[in-house]
Amino acid sequence: MRVLALSGSLRRDSYNTSLLRAAVELAPGGVEVELYDGLGAVPPYDYDVELDGTPAAVTDLKQRIDAADAVLIATPEYNGSIPGQLKNALDWVSRPIRESPFRGTPTGVIGASTGAYGGVWAQAELRKVLGILGARVLEEGVAVPSAAEQFAPDGSLASPEVAVQLAGLIADLVGAASPVADAA
Ligand code: FNR
Repeated sequence: MRVLALSGSLRRDSYNTSLLRAAVELAPGGVEVELYDGLGAVPPYDYDVELDGTPAAVTDLKQRIDAADAVLIATPEYNGSIPGQLKNALDWVSRPIRESPFRGTPTGVIGASTGAYGGVWAQAELRKVLGILGARVLEEGVAVPSAAEQFAPDGSLASPEVAVQLAGLIADLVGAASPVADAA
């Protein structure tokens, strides 16, 4: 099973990317978590550019989502919402909406912020956008507040509580992406 992990932060030492690296480590056997690192290459959405042909970076992202059994997105919170570059990439991915690669894809939303609430507003907004793109968004999430205290200087996850929550969410995501057991 393949899970595509997408961080909404472009920052090298991003807590959200670190959270996804922890997810790579926590994934159970048989589950491959692929960390997408092409977000910075996605150009600004422009209908005129779209008419000339979908940019290669967008096609690449769409194909990765399409090939994944599930998607896990870690979003920072910028001014109470999701970062512009993440929204921009999702806007590209949504074109045309009937071909959205998210359609029916189990998708987990998590996030870390240096603030006191772990970016829950951004997560709520991301859920809304993903719903419009047709994703099957998991109800549960993981919000990591005061991120500077939850990660070690080398970026590894230092909080056992967050690790337990994250492992639980990955298990739920894998369960949602697994074929339904034979009902007969
Ligand atoms: C922030 N930050 C922030 N945090 C928060 O909890 N709520 C918010 O509304 C905002 N707003 C905000 C706006 C902008 C423009 C920036 C740059 C930052 C702080 C944010 O949580 C912090 O920078 C995180 O470290 C960003 O995530 P990464 O890059 O570490 O993954």
